[in-house]
Order: sequence, then structure tokens, then C-alpha cells
Amino acid sequence: MPNLAVVGAQWGDEGKGKVVDLLAPRFASVVRFQGGPNAGHTVVVDGVTHALHQVPSGILHPGVRCLVGAGTLVDPDRLVEELATLRAAGVEPAGRLVLSRRAHLILPHHRALDGALEARLGKGGIGTTRRGMGPAYGAKVERWGVRLGDLARPADVAAHLGRMLDAGLGAWLRELGAGVPSPGEIEVLAARWWEALGEHVGDVSRLLHEDLREGRPILFEGAQGALLDVDFGTYPFVTSSNTIAGGIPASLGIPPRAVHRVVGIAKAYTTRVGAGPFPTEEHGPLGDRLRDAGGEYGTTTGRPRRCGWFDAVAVAHAVRVSGIDALVLTKLDVLGGIDPLRIAVAYDVDGERTEWFPSTAAELDRAVPVYEELPGWTEDLSGVRRLEDLPAAARAYVARIEELAGCPVSLLGTGPGRGSEIVVPGTLLAEWLAS
Ligand code: IMP
Repeated sequence: MPNLAVVGAQWGDEGKGKVVDLLAPRFASVVRFQGGPNAGHTVVVDGVTHALHQVPSGILHPGVRCLVGAGTLVDPDRLVEELATLRAAGVEPAGRLVLSRRAHLILPHHRALDGALEARLGKGGIGTTRRGMGPAYGAKVERWGVRLGDLARPADVAAHLGRMLDAGLGAWLRELGAGVPSPGEIEVLAARWWEALGEHVGDVSRLLHEDLREGRPILFEGAQGALLDVDFGTYPFVTSSNTIAGGIPASLGIPPRAVHRVVGIAKAYTTRVGAGPFPTEEHGPLGDRLRDAGGEYGTTTGRPRRCGWFDAVAVAHAVRVSGIDALVLTKLDVLGGIDPLRIAVAYDVDGERTEWFPSTAAELDRAVPVYEELPGWTEDLSGVRRLEDLPAAARAYVARIEELAGCPVSLLGTGPGRGSEIVVPGTLLAEWLAS
């Protein structure tokens, strides 16, 4: 059975959690490879909504091992809370959740820095989730970060932080009014975190190599989306990690050839949270309608999402940069009653038409979408399980997206719960789900 990656093909929040939940029971391991508590996956099981942030969505299936790789960030306080919430809901992570020793930590001052910088920048900020992602990934590449495995020696963590504070971090934190942690406090916290999480810490790369050797199938669970990728997204309005499929081997210490197939998730329209260019955004009643009908409020921060038409230029870019083999189109039901529908098929940038996604935020800011109109439908799609039972207009809408994105659609989402999806016969996921 092939290993599968599930990655976002827009600006995150495409419904990856639901797809991973559907596929997870067929895999031995489900692995997070980037991001951290900025992610929010909502999965509805038997009417109960589970909001997952750092733990892979596979945790909701008892037989599946959940791994959190070296390229992720772990916020120990929040993870301890998340595990307690899962336990309270009857989901036991013991023995099934392994976090990489190499994963970097989000420390309290990273959160404080993220918040202080965003507050100072005001409207000129990124609109981050304020979970400390930028400062913690920054500390990692600047080589003064702390890794999960370091918590086994709390005194060393405190000494390391003391050196960082003396070398300039302390002055910077004071200048920003972000609060300066004392090494003593960090030592106490590190010991507490190790006590709570130590049993889950291990060598994730080694476990994956054992899976590969034994041919046990692996599901790579992406967070955020291609347009938030630090290199191929709308920089600087991006997250601080590689969200595209190419990030998988580097973040997990496995060969690129171990990622056999890539599934990209896209909504039937577009949403974005935070600041940055969004060519097909609708500020008027249509944006409000999509937000209300789609329940478009952030899982992690509760912020209302910006909403707009499907952007085929952006999704085709995601298909290219992530090497997406099959698309999942979620929330098709939300478009019911909107007539006509629009899809951006190209951009007009300074009077020139292009189908290529611009590489700078400034260019993207000037991009005017070129729209194509398609007829809408009024039928309620919830409960539709077969492609041929969809209204003709909905089928035509999906077919046009496939054509423009250059990728077949393998699964369609028609409602929030488990079981409200259409599997397209003869496609990648149909074969997978039948196996
Ligand atoms: P950060 O990852 O918190 O630094 O935020 C950087 C940008 O990515 C902001 O625009 C966030 O709103 C966005 N972002 C981060 N995580 C997610 C997510 O899981 N879904 C959607 N947007 C996200």
C-alpha cells in the first residue's frame, strides 16, 4: 500500500483533518511533519467535535500510531492541555503518541514575542495565531532553540536560556515589553514538562524507517496550506515552515521516495485568516454568506475567516509545488443557492494576463482576478453519496476545477460529519478506500 501525504492546497483550513480522519484507519502511522499549535483540525465524530492542534488527527482511531516529527514545534503547556482534553473525551494517547526528540519547543517567551511584535506592528503585522511560531522557528534556525529531548536535563535547558538572555535576548524582550523568563522558572517548567511528556518522546525518524522497512503504510498529515508555505506562499504573509509536500522528507529524516502519493485538499471556495493578499476575496454580502453558511471561524483563534471565490490560479500553483496527484474538494454543499458561481481562471497584473501565481506579495496585491461564470444549483447536497446524484451544475463546477487545476478530484465533501462525502470512482482515493 502506498504512503500518502495529505496537504493543504489553499491558505489552510481546507478540511484536512476530516480527510485524515477518513483515511487514518488504513494506516499504521499518521505523522505531523511541520507547524505546531497554530494548526487547528476540526473532526466531528458521532456528533462530538474534536479540535486538534498538535496531535495528529489519527489519534481518534484506536489502532493508529501518531507521530510528531522533527520539523514541528511543540508547545508543552498547550500539548499537556490537549492530551487532557482528549483523555476527558475517552481518547487515550498513552502508547500511541510519539513526539520527536528533535522537535523544537515553543517557550513562553516565544509566545510573548509573537504577541508583542504583532501588537506593535498593528495593521502592518502578519496576523499570526500568536502561538509563538515565528520566534520559535527563528530560534531554531538561529541555533539557540531548545529541543524536546533537551527537557530530560532541565538544568541544562535553564543554563542555555541564561546564556541566551545574557547574549541579547533579555534586552530585546525588555525592549518589547514581552516579559523576561528567569532561568530558574524555566528549570522548574522543564522538569514539569518532562514529567508530563517524557513518556511520549522518542526517535520518530527511526520509527518511520522501521515502518518503511516493514512496508507498513504511513500517512503524512500536513498543516496550513501551500499558500502559507514560507518559500512558495505569499511571503511574508505566511507561516514559518514548509507546508508543501517537499517539506516532508526534510522534516522527518526519510527519503523523498517514501512519499508515494500526494493528496491536496481545497475548499470549493476560498478562505484565509490573517493578513496578506487574497485576490478573490469578497468583502460584501457574498463573503458574509460564505462565512455564515460555511461556519468560517478559525479553529485555533476563533477569528472570522476572509472568504471569496475559488481561485484556480492559486490551486494550480499548489498542485505544481506540492506535486498533488489528486484533489479533495470540500464544502461543495456551502455553495448551494449561489447563482452564478465564479472561478478565477487567471490574473490581470499591470495589464498582463497570467495563469502563473506571482512570487511577491506586492504583485499579488495588484492582481485582478479574471473570472469565469458558471451556473449554480439550489439542491441540498447533504446526504448525496454518488457523483451521478449531484445536480448537473455541481458536476460541471467540479469538472471545470479539475481542468483548471490540472488535477483530478478524487473526493468531494458535502457536509461536516463522517460519511458526508462522495468518492469519485476510478480515482486515487477510490482505490485506496476500496483496498
Ligand atoms: P503563524 O503560523 O501563527 O505564525 O501565522 C502566520 C499566518 O499563517 C497567519 O496568517 C495565520 O493566520 C496563518 N495560519 C497559521 N496556521 C494556520 C492554520 O492552521 N489555518 C489557517 N491559517 C493559519
